[in-house]
Amino acid sequence: MDKKFYITTPIYYVNDKPHAGHAYTTLVADVLARYHRQNGEDTFFLTGTDEHGSKIAEAAAKHNQTPQEFCDQVSGVFKTAWDKDHLGIAYDYFIRTTDPNHEQAVRDIFQKLLEAKTPANNPVLYEGEYAGLYCTGCEKFLTEKELVNGLCPDHKRAPEVLKEKNYFFRLADYLPAIEQKIVSGELQILPEHKKNEALGFIKQNVPDFSVSRSSVKWGVDLPFAPGQVAYVWIDALSNYITALGYPKNLELMAKYWPADVQLMAQDISKFHTIYWPALLMALNLPLPKTMFIHGFFTIDGQKMSKSIGNVIDPNDLVAQFGQDGTRYLLLSQFPLGQEADLQASLFKERYNNDLANGLGNLVARTANMIETYLAGKNPITKKNSLNLNNDLPDLNKFFIYEYLVAIRSLIDQANRLIDEKKPWQLVKTDLASTQEVLGQVGELIILVAEKLAPIMPAISAKITKQFTSDIIKKEEALFPRLN
Ligand code: MSP
Repeated sequence: MDKKFYITTPIYYVNDKPHAGHAYTTLVADVLARYHRQNGEDTFFLTGTDEHGSKIAEAAAKHNQTPQEFCDQVSGVFKTAWDKDHLGIAYDYFIRTTDPNHEQAVRDIFQKLLEAKTPANNPVLYEGEYAGLYCTGCEKFLTEKELVNGLCPDHKRAPEVLKEKNYFFRLADYLPAIEQKIVSGELQILPEHKKNEALGFIKQNVPDFSVSRSSVKWGVDLPFAPGQVAYVWIDALSNYITALGYPKNLELMAKYWPADVQLMAQDISKFHTIYWPALLMALNLPLPKTMFIHGFFTIDGQKMSKSIGNVIDPNDLVAQFGQDGTRYLLLSQFPLGQEADLQASLFKERYNNDLANGLGNLVARTANMIETYLAGKNPITKKNSLNLNNDLPDLNKFFIYEYLVAIRSLIDQANRLIDEKKPWQLVKTDLASTQEVLGQVGELIILVAEKLAPIMPAISAKITKQFTSDIIKKEEALFPRLN
């Protein structure tokens, strides 16, 4: 295998269990990873959990647990939601920022930063005093301008005034180079408007940022700065390289770094398009090739939030629609990257329409006719007798939604072929033609199954097995109708 593909999701905070937003990004990454594996590329798909910081410590205290116990538990809940009995996320590695290896790697990274010089020959880190308004919900300092009625607009709570001695990262020395790499496309930011947004941040001259905290206890302690821990965002961003063994073991780094695709939503784009490249440059590492920043979706027009009570648990979706049904429903709603709405109220209708009546019915009726009219003998000749055009929208260009639209039209094409040729009439007079029609339909079904493999892996494998056997039998419904 010569080509490699390294894809990452954000690592999710464990202050709460996973919801449809986390599931969405993770699913997109899973689809792309499966697609690249299917194409024979040496693929590494990383996801995990972000477990340090005051937000997590507060949540643990609320549950009367130690932070570590709490993190173990909630991280486990994420793993379960992704496992083969739930969403079926085939990651290659699940990193936790409380892994001792990661923690040590973060200390090593800080040590390197401490010794490093910027392109302008200044020390990368310097000590300074910071006073600011800190929102624990965001795990970041807010400016007065960002507050709404004195409150953090996202968390509706007043930020605390924090004053402490910290290490700062000399970001200013890196901004011109980051800008140049984004403009030249060396660091590709997609979609285009998110690239412009990143360039906009740089134009505003993002100030140097503090990379250590003395007010926070639950974090990676820094031996060179007693009493201080690593700022949770530096700890978190580092995961993308510590998961590969950086800096102690460079074997996987040499194989997979730089990342080919880093996925996230816009809430954390600034950290990834500014701070992360600066950190990598300070470590003398190449930048990721592509960052894809998708929108934050609403649920039936409303922000997903506990107070509205519309937070969707992916496990509930899997219980209702099955693994592949859920994967389909989440990915077929809107083009990736669009500011969009997840129409959860239409999930059942879409499931019945596209899956039960569409793909499920096609497979069931075809298998049934083959069994009844042809004694199950597989009629597929693989001659590509329909001259199928296999060009679907490119998953490599993130066209997952468009790809599913094209697959639906293949399913419709197969259903129309049956309706037009009416094998139930044909069989009375012309067995050879019946066999040919069912063979053509079967060929379409196999094509659909093959194309669906990255999106609906379990159903795809089932259909492929059924339609490549010598004897095709009717099996239980793939997508039972829901009332
Ligand atoms: N821990 C940080 C990320 C550190 S990465 C080095 C974090 N965690 S998070 O749990 O808040 O996850 C944020 C991510 O979850 C988003 O960037 C996105 O991938 C996903 N989403 C959460 N809610 C979402 C929506 N409503 N819509 C789409 N994606 C959503 O930030």
